[in-house]
Amino acid sequence: MATRDTWVSNLGFVLAAVGSAAGLGNIWRFPWLTAGNGGSAFLAVYLAIVVSVGVPGLLAEFVLGRRGRQTPMGALRSLTGSRWGSVLGAFNVLTTLLILSFYSVVGGWILRYTLVSPTGAYFAQPQQYFGAIGYGFEAVGFHLLFLGIVAGIVFFGVNRGIERVSKVMLPAVVVLLVGLAAWTATQPGTAAGYAFYLGFDGEYLFANFASVLGPAAGQALFTLSVGAGTMLTYASYIDEDSSLPRDTIVIAVSNTFIGVLAGLVVIPLLFSQGVDPGQGGPGALFVGLAAAFESLPGGRVVATAFFAAVLMAAVTSAISLLETPVATLVDAVGMPRRRATLLISGVLALTGTGLSLSAPIFQFVSGTVADLMLSVGLFAFLVIVGWMLREDAIAEFRAGAGRMGVLAPSWLFTVSWLLPVVVLFSLSSTLGSLVG
Ligand code: PHE
Repeated sequence: MATRDTWVSNLGFVLAAVGSAAGLGNIWRFPWLTAGNGGSAFLAVYLAIVVSVGVPGLLAEFVLGRRGRQTPMGALRSLTGSRWGSVLGAFNVLTTLLILSFYSVVGGWILRYTLVSPTGAYFAQPQQYFGAIGYGFEAVGFHLLFLGIVAGIVFFGVNRGIERVSKVMLPAVVVLLVGLAAWTATQPGTAAGYAFYLGFDGEYLFANFASVLGPAAGQALFTLSVGAGTMLTYASYIDEDSSLPRDTIVIAVSNTFIGVLAGLVVIPLLFSQGVDPGQGGPGALFVGLAAAFESLPGGRVVATAFFAAVLMAAVTSAISLLETPVATLVDAVGMPRRRATLLISGVLALTGTGLSLSAPIFQFVSGTVADLMLSVGLFAFLVIVGWMLREDAIAEFRAGAGRMGVLAPSWLFTVSWLLPVVVLFSLSSTLGSLVG
């Protein structure tokens, strides 16, 4: 068997993992979920879940990946010693395919907006513009283009493709967002947005806690890329000297920073135009921001910078989603990486096309279905780590962790007891909202 790819450096792994985490979830999905669920109240629950569930859950996924040294199907099979492990791994692969199917459609929208922003093509009639290109044949074209870019990177492998690209794109995203957040702060009419986003509405939270919990937990998992097996796959390429707990914290903090930063750009700008981002659904970002860019000085330049940042963030996440099924074919059936990339991209070209033709299916898949699958995936990881591996998981946590190794038992306790309960609770809240 050929030797497996590895990251060139631990920093490369961390950057690629932050690249996976920071994406459309932070910039496109977050504002409309936040605004639709009470603004600051949602933000508070979401942050609490990122810390209490996301971080230990992500660490559990990393432990599985580094211990298993394979993609989800092979790793979970060998770690559990049961065929059910392969079934769970296959479920992960399905999750990544499903998420990437809609991700690539949104990536296509972003690509298009990046290309046309210098001309201000959508400035005059943002609503009509998005209406004309959001779903349908033009959307298909840009979805394919976006997918092509992503496939081109994965084609070159872990260190020559993914790691290299992440090392350039991720810092660029941060620099652009910092600049944009500073620019936003100088714009008129943004105060209401900051208040909505950063103020704390305890009453709303108290009254709506149960209904906020499901979407907040789903978003916390989505934004950290937890539960899909992508982080498991990335961790299968690192060595024993890296400290998993330290890396996890660095990744979660960086991702949250990028998310909050994106919110500081998007939400005040939307409010400055009197747009309620909770109303518009997936198109809100495009329509609302277009109005803001149109009315503010330097709008075209700012719009281009903004969409370029979102595009790069989306690409670094999409490559992790594509890497998982591609590497699974490489690991499981020994298919050459390039052929596997072409094959999986072909499948995604079709599934994404299906979604770009139907707004209602698109919304259902990108919201509820994605949340449910990630929760189920994470639940399975927790059970395996907390109830089957136990001592092995502690050993993997400690390898390379230095003094942080003392935290291993309390982490394992959280993973075995607290997290499964929270995940089940949020699962039932999401399912309940489906029925009710
Ligand atoms: N975390 C990515 C984002 O926020 C999405 C993602 C989910 C990527 C699951 C990989 C796995 O955009």
